[in-house]
Amino acid sequence: MKPQLERIESYPEVAQKLEQHIRETEGQIRRIEGILEGLDEEHSALTDWALSFTGGMAAMGHTMAGDEIIKNSLANFAFENFEIAAYKSLLTIADIGG
Ligand SMILES: [Fe+2]
Repeated sequence: MKPQLERIESYPEVAQKLEQHIRETEGQIRRIEGILEGLDEEHSALTDWALSFTGGMAAMGHTMAGDEIIKNSLANFAFENFEIAAYKSLLTIADIGG
């Protein structure tokens, strides 16, 4: 999201929403790290790196497109749905683990 945000010039409302979501995401990361630390567990650095790399490459690849904002929106939609699926699976695991 950060590489996208740096390039948005013509869509201030999208930029505002991306900034808001970056802050929300950073809060989610802090909460998850706190929970994992309480369980004496660590997050997957490989998964974090892979997702960050993939997102960065997608954003960079879209810079050459005339419809960059649309392509980034589609990629963001896909990533958010991945995120929702990850959180739902965490909730299920947490329920099962008590
Ligand atoms: Fe998100």
